[in-house]
Amino acid sequence: MTAPPMIRALKGETLDRPPFWFMRQAGRYLPEYRALRSEADGFLDLCYTPTKAAEVTLQPLRRYGMDAAILFSDILVIPDALGQNVRFVQGEGPKLDPVGSAADLDALSLDRVADHLAPVLETVARVRAALTPDQALIGFAGAPFTVACYMVEGGGSKDHNAVRTLAWAEPAVMDRLMGMLIDATVAYLSAQITAGAQAVQLFDSWAGVLPEPLFERLVVAPTVTIVNRLRAAHPDIPIIGFPRGAGTLYAHYAEATGVDALGLDTAVPVEQAAGLQKICCVQGNLDPALLLVGGPALIAEIDRLREGLRGGPHVFNLGHGISQFTPPDHVAAAAERLRTPLNG
Ligand code: CP3
Repeated sequence: MTAPPMIRALKGETLDRPPFWFMRQAGRYLPEYRALRSEADGFLDLCYTPTKAAEVTLQPLRRYGMDAAILFSDILVIPDALGQNVRFVQGEGPKLDPVGSAADLDALSLDRVADHLAPVLETVARVRAALTPDQALIGFAGAPFTVACYMVEGGGSKDHNAVRTLAWAEPAVMDRLMGMLIDATVAYLSAQITAGAQAVQLFDSWAGVLPEPLFERLVVAPTVTIVNRLRAAHPDIPIIGFPRGAGTLYAHYAEATGVDALGLDTAVPVEQAAGLQKICCVQGNLDPALLLVGGPALIAEIDRLREGLRGGPHVFNLGHGISQFTPPDHVAAAAERLRTPLNG
């Protein structure tokens, strides 16, 4: 049996029609998501209720026929499982009681992670059972640095000063936090794979805020460890790294970590992306703002990216997550174009 197109592309095959999925494809832009979300007792409750989380995972595929589902969960279930207080405030995004000292880390524990995240694994199994053999299921986790950003800043941040200050000023505390996150991430992704995930993505959404020495220490080195440990247990499962904002360091990240595929943000020029295809599969990188715009501009940009990347392995995706204000019809138009193979 041949693998689904998504998995073949992630492993380096150049296909006539690049398979596609959209980052954050499940969520508030879909009315059927908002309906289920309003019944749930908060966002984390939705993540930890397998029947609902599986339903939300499948909603975009029913409408648009993407080549992959991405597990519905969040990168912040790891700090929640470690025992940090995490809540999602409507309209304000995530809020956490910030950690910044050895004593704060003493209050966290890896012991309860497996039990706490068991419902997410049940979601994985349910979704896998509902997909066709041609549709792939992608699992994910936040990369340690990006999760540490939220843990140390206590939520989203514009400048990331607290986490960068901790990294420079208290390297022992920062490295201990990173070590816990590496262990939790390997265990969690490994369990997702065992439960049925056929590829995994590491979201390093804030990699681009770091100067080179910290990029090496907090993005590249932890990813090397995670990739090596996952490969030892699951040698055939493709790993997608998304070091958003890595710019000129993208090639180094891909070469040093050995990821199977590189998620590209909106700022990567298509010529640079084509060069990166010599190292591994590239995934990206449509501007999500074009899904707000729709019409001929959307179609022209889809075609420009597919043309520019047709010479090597490509998974079509956005350069960042879909906006909650996206009209569902625009996603339908994009999906229709993407289901059509390239000509000539
Ligand atoms: O469809 C999918 O892509 C799967 C589900 C998914 C969610 N979050 C659901 C979600 C995935 C893959 C994520 C990843 C995630 N979460 C990232 C990395 C990707 C990126 O965007 O950079 C980050 C940084 C987070 C942390 C997070 N979760 C933030 C900052 C927020 C608030 C901002 C927002 O968009 O609301 C969330 C909440 C969240 N995660 C929602 C969803 C559907 C909205 C919550 C709601 O319904 O109220």
